[in-house]
Amino acid sequence: MSRHRRNLIYLLGFMGSGKSTVGALVARGLGWPFIDLDATIEAGQAMTIREIFERAGEPFFREIERAALTEASKAEPAVIALGGGTFVQDANLQFIREMGGVTVWLDTPLDELLRRCGSMDNRPLFRDLESFRQLLEQRLPYYQLAEFRVSTEGRAPEEVAEQILRLRVF
Ligand code: S3P
Repeated sequence: MSRHRRNLIYLLGFMGSGKSTVGALVARGLGWPFIDLDATIEAGQAMTIREIFERAGEPFFREIERAALTEASKAEPAVIALGGGTFVQDANLQFIREMGGVTVWLDTPLDELLRRCGSMDNRPLFRDLESFRQLLEQRLPYYQLAEFRVSTEGRAPEEVAEQILRLRVF
């Protein structure tokens, strides 16, 4: 753990948990800048996430994700929405802990995640129901390492953001 608390909030959770939408609302509520990691990666590569996966593969994506995380974490204050896989890479987890920001897991049940991701085609890791379910299961132990868990079940993004703002740890 870092020696002092920094004005950084990392939102983590599975794809479809609402990190980008909720993150923007939390940032607005605090008057802090909002950084969406996937969006910065797409802008930096001038490609969509799906194109990066298709043309260069997942290992390359993870490398640039790591670089984007390092760069984004230089901002302060900031609310940073991670990608669904960012927090489950050990090096990233370690790095985020060292940065001393607040980690908040948006916990969303499988059926809700499926409903939200089913209609989107910019998610290369959303292939079929079974692999989606398995990936979520593999990742839960990592997500549970976040300092705060906020359930998004049946709740509007505004409500979820309000709850995060009420944590009053920043
Ligand atoms: C990924 C989730 C995506 C994106 C990439 C990989 C993952 O982000 O970073 O497709 O490993 O779960 P979202 O969680 O914003 O969809």
